[in-house]
Amino acid sequence: MSDANYIPREEGIDHTLSLMREGYLYILNRRRSFHSDIFETRLFGKKVICMGGNEAAEIFYDTEKFKRKNAAPNRAVQTLFGKNGVQSLDDKEHKLRKEMFMSIMSPEELEKLIIITKEQWQFAVDKWRQMDEVILYDEVQEILCRTACQWAGVPLPEEEVTRLSEDLGAMFESAAKVGPNHWKGRNARNQVEKWVEELVNNVRAGNVQPPKNSAFDQFVRHRNLDGHLLDTETVAVEIINILRPIVAIAIYINFLTLALHYYPEERNKLKSDHTNYAELFIQEVRRFYPFFPFVSALVKKDFMWKDYTFEKDTLTLLDLYGTNHDPNIWDNPERFNPERFANKVENLYDFIPQGGGDYFMGHRCAGEWLTIEVMKVSLDYLVNKMEFELPKQDLSYSMVSMPSIPQSRIVIKNVK
Ligand code: HEM
Repeated sequence: MSDANYIPREEGIDHTLSLMREGYLYILNRRRSFHSDIFETRLFGKKVICMGGNEAAEIFYDTEKFKRKNAAPNRAVQTLFGKNGVQSLDDKEHKLRKEMFMSIMSPEELEKLIIITKEQWQFAVDKWRQMDEVILYDEVQEILCRTACQWAGVPLPEEEVTRLSEDLGAMFESAAKVGPNHWKGRNARNQVEKWVEELVNNVRAGNVQPPKNSAFDQFVRHRNLDGHLLDTETVAVEIINILRPIVAIAIYINFLTLALHYYPEERNKLKSDHTNYAELFIQEVRRFYPFFPFVSALVKKDFMWKDYTFEKDTLTLLDLYGTNHDPNIWDNPERFNPERFANKVENLYDFIPQGGGDYFMGHRCAGEWLTIEVMKVSLDYLVNKMEFELPKQDLSYSMVSMPSIPQSRIVIKNVK
């Protein structure tokens, strides 16, 4: 191999332990030490290319160069994603399935979601006023579980709310865990899939009618490229692909609360917000705090990029956290500064907490607009519609455990 093709390589048999030790910073640390946005290593017993930065993101989202089938580790499929979901599809099949998701993200449907989210927050805050102490993360998961089910047209009996919130939470909390914490996520997925499959069968048998245009209504009627309806299991996986990540927004709401606590001057700016400061604040929370560390794909066919050779089927990781903290893109990336977004020129590859590129053609998160809307309603409650205190507690968050959640899950008191 000539020098021109050399990708900096981390020497050694396997570096999975370093990944576990360094977590969100694993790729960024090596990009710094190699002075390169791309390097090769060995993880999970395989050769892996790691890359970060906006140029790397642009090629990663080129669907001629990368594919997703079989790219996700089995432990993530068994907990986070489920089998045969949109995340694992390519080309025409992916495009059609992704349209199914994006069809429920219309302004009208998002408006419905905003109304439901406000109602659920109000209901919860009224309840919290009677409570000595509230564990915000758990309670917000319940708000979002109710919101998600009502919006998606999934009937949820009151006595099932806590169980379902916990199960959906276990699915995204367990993907990178080991032992019992990982198995909790697998069991949760098996149970929730079974429950949703029964609902799908009931709808198809005509016993239940989900609200028109809701996710449930659309997904049950969706047809594959071959003209057949999606099978029951796949409908359940895709419905869960709506419910689970809506509940996961609880993590961002914990980080909104943390940012309000650590940067109290921001609260004043938000209170007197007559412009779009709330949106700038939300974007900065999504950039600054850790959530998804990276995304994975396989090289679709051999290609060259900047003189580097990418060989077919090589596992490739794109550094999401590191790209959001890349000094070539962000001034002072370790400073929390919402105003940086005031003059930010829109670019599909600079700011990628929920993936990059185009929503319809690629794998960028289908729920990014929805996430921002839910965060806006939540921030309005936290700043303008309630008062509360944060008692002494451990507010630290790990840069290793994925996903990272503040240690105390944020306890609040004296809600008024
Ligand atoms: C909680 C905040 C969220 C974060 C941090 C997040 C992050 C992500 C990331 C990193 C991806 C993968 C992008 C890629 O593979 O290149 C993704 C994909 C996806 N997300 Fe989200 N997401 C969030 C919320 C949501 C919500 C609320 C929904 C739906 C209501 C949603 C639905 C999806 C779907 C369906 C995909 C797969 C898209 C595809 O493969 O084409 N996400 N998300």
